[in-house]
Amino acid sequence: MAESMETLRTNLSAHGQDHTLQYWSSLSSQDREFLQAQLRSIDLALMDRLIETWVRKDPPPETFAEIRPVPTIPVARADRADAKEAWDAGEEALRAGRVGLLLVAGGQGTRLGYDGPKGAYPIGPISKRSLFAFHAEKIHNAQRRYGCVLPWYIMVSESNRDATRGFFKENGYFGLEEQDVYFFTQRMVPCVDDSGKFMLEAPGVLAMNPNGHGGVIPAVVENGIAQDARDRGVDTLSYFQVDNWALKVADPFFIGYHVLRGGQMSSKIHRKIEVRESVGVHCLCDGEYRTIEYSELDIYPQLLETDGQGKPIYYAGNPAIHTISVPFIEAVYEKFDEFPWHRAHKKIPYLDGSGNCVNPAKPNGYKFETFVFDALRFIRHEPIALEIGRLGEYTPIKQFSGDNSVESAWRDQAELWASWIEAAGMDVPRNGEGRASVRIEISPQFAFSKEEFVQRARDLKLPAGRDIAIGPDGSIVSD
Ligand code: UD1
Repeated sequence: MAESMETLRTNLSAHGQDHTLQYWSSLSSQDREFLQAQLRSIDLALMDRLIETWVRKDPPPETFAEIRPVPTIPVARADRADAKEAWDAGEEALRAGRVGLLLVAGGQGTRLGYDGPKGAYPIGPISKRSLFAFHAEKIHNAQRRYGCVLPWYIMVSESNRDATRGFFKENGYFGLEEQDVYFFTQRMVPCVDDSGKFMLEAPGVLAMNPNGHGGVIPAVVENGIAQDARDRGVDTLSYFQVDNWALKVADPFFIGYHVLRGGQMSSKIHRKIEVRESVGVHCLCDGEYRTIEYSELDIYPQLLETDGQGKPIYYAGNPAIHTISVPFIEAVYEKFDEFPWHRAHKKIPYLDGSGNCVNPAKPNGYKFETFVFDALRFIRHEPIALEIGRLGEYTPIKQFSGDNSVESAWRDQAELWASWIEAAGMDVPRNGEGRASVRIEISPQFAFSKEEFVQRARDLKLPAGRDIAIGPDGSIVSD
C-alpha cells in the first residue's frame, strides 16, 4: 500500500498535480481510500493532453470548406414501399432478438431542479409515474408484440448510480426481469482550474464530472456490455436519452432502415422550429457526418440561414436518438484516443487557501466531456438520418416550464393521446382553443401507437368529462 501510494505521489508530481495530496496527513483512512481511488482512476496522460489543448492554448474552432445539410429519409409512412420494407426488416430483427436498448442516464439533471436521478422524475400527469416507468412500460409493450427480450443497458455515473439502482429495486424493476436490466457506470474526469490544476471540493475529494454521454463507448466495452450483447445474439442497440418522454422504444422503422442499409450508426432527426432552437444540428462538414452542438451555432453562421419562408435551411435537429451496431462501438473504442473532447467553462466549488469550500460567482474552471454523436464522423457509409415528427416521438424534459419542459410535454402528450381516443370513436372534452380540457394519460404498455390503441380500446368505457388515465392492462383509473 505504502509503495503504491509513493508511486501515485510520484506520478502526480510528474504531471504537476501533487497539490491534490496537500491535506493527506489530516485525512481519515476512509477519506484517504476515497481520494486514492479517485486519483488512481484518472488517465493522467489524457488530462495532460486536454489541459494543453483546452486550457494552456485556446485553439480556434475547426473550420470547414463546406457545410451542407445532411440528406434525410422523410418521415416513414407505411404506404411507402421503402418504409414498409424497413418496418418489416425492423420487426424481423426484433423478433430474432437482435436488438438491445442503450439508455444514457448519467447526467446530473440540474436544469430541472430535481433532487434525484432524472429518470425518477414523476412525469405521469395523473399517475405520477416516473420517466423510467414509462420507458419500462414501452419495453413491456415491445416484448409482448415481438415475443422477444430487449435487454436494457442503462449507463449511470458515480453521482447517481446508487440512487438509480435503488429506485429500480424499490419499484421491482417495473416488472421487468432483473437479469435483463443492466446498470453500468461511466468514467469520471477531473475538473481543472483556469491554470490547469485539478481541484479539490473537500480536503479528501477531488472535483470530478461524468465524461459525457460519449463515455458510453468505452463504458459499453469495459463493463462487458458489448460482450453480454454478443452472448445474447444482440448486434443492434437502440440508443436514447432519459429525458425524452415520448420516445418510441425500439421503433421498427428506424431499426429497419439501419439494418437494411448496413448501418454502423444511424440517427433520427426532427425539423427545427427555428434556427436558435437548443438542439444540435446534423450536417455534413467537408463530407463528414457531424452534429454541431447548439452552443456552437455562432461559430458556423451558415447554420443559422433560413429559406424564403423563414425556415431553417439546416433543419435537421438532433433529438439524440440513434441506432448503433455493437461492432461499430467496439471499433470506435479501439480508436477512442482520437475521439474529440469538449470543454465547458463552469462555476466549480473549490477549497480556498484556508481549506474552506467556496462557491464561486463566476466560472473558475473547466469540465471536459465527450458527446456520443461525435462517433458519427467514424461511419463508413452514407448517413442514415430518419426524419420524425415531434408528437409521439420527441418531447424532452429539460426544465419545468417553457420550451422542452414538463408542462409542454404534458400538453403535447395530451394532444397525442386525445387523438388516439377520438380515433377509437370516444369523446374527449375540448376547450375553446380545441385543446383537451381534461388530463389524459395512456400507459404505453397498453398501446404504443394509435393503431394499437384503436384495436385494444374497443371495450373501454371512459369516464365522461373527467380526467382519463388508462393503466398498463387497460384498466381505467379515475379520481
Ligand atoms: C442534448 C444534446 C443535443 C440534443 C438534445 C436533445 C448534448 C451535448 N447535446 O442536449 O444535441 O439536441 O440533447 O434533447 O448532449 N448524460 C450522461 N452522461 C453524461 C452527460 C449526459 O449519461 O456525462 C445523459 C443525460 O443523462 C441525458 C443525456 O445524456 O440523458 C443528455 O444530456 P443533457 O445534458 O440533458 O443534454 P442537452 O443539453 O439537453
